Amino acid sequence: MSDPKAISVLGICGSLRKASFNMAALNTAVELRPAGMTVTVADISQIPLYNEDVRAQGFPPPVETLRQQIKAADALLFACPEYNYSMSGVLKNAIDWASRPPEQPFAGKPLAIIGAAAGMAGSARAQYDLRRSCVFLDMHPLNKPEVLIGQAHTKFDAAGNLNDEAAKGFIRDLMTNLAAWTRQLAKK
Ligand SMILES: Cc1cc2nc3c(=O)[nH]c(=O)nc-3n(C[C@H](O)[C@H](O)[C@H](O)COP(=O)(O)O)c2cc1C
Repeated sequence: MSDPKAISVLGICGSLRKASFNMAALNTAVELRPAGMTVTVADISQIPLYNEDVRAQGFPPPVETLRQQIKAADALLFACPEYNYSMSGVLKNAIDWASRPPEQPFAGKPLAIIGAAAGMAGSARAQYDLRRSCVFLDMHPLNKPEVLIGQAHTKFDAAGNLNDEAAKGFIRDLMTNLAAWTRQLAKK
């Protein structure tokens, strides 16, 4: 039997800081991806604050790039920080920009979510807000496993390595399930 078609995933991280635990978790997910999957990480650092007047003049180049990357990807992987019990403004702003018509690029996309936070809940509240936006955008979020990395400062070293075998296991399973979910939805 031939190998199944390769799956391309676009990673989007909601934290811009250099030593971000969420970016470190995203990098761990890239390392633990299954065979036959590629992951590209989007650069959302140059996206301006959403302004409908600006949008009326056309999408700014960093937004247009993100929209094209979303359209081209078979699936998305969000790394979701928790700010004040919700997703970060950086992540919401990027989603808001990319979601505007024409051709809303999120519609029909499979996606998975990971998150790391200082609190015990490991960004659970933010992830559920993100899931709510995914429903409105007609996406197909993978349900399980949930990857909730609580007390993140105790689980990553200074180089961004995740030193928690349980969390790594959840991330590995998530990436395997994302591949299966994407193939199931695309029937490929
Ligand atoms: C504005 C702000 C709000 C925060 N709110 C929460 C919160 O609600 N829950 C939580 O667990 N951590 C909260 N934190 C701490 C973050 O989890 C912590 O800074 C984390 O490292 C951010 O993700 P990052 O490492 O990817 O940048 C907050 C941090 C900031 C800057």
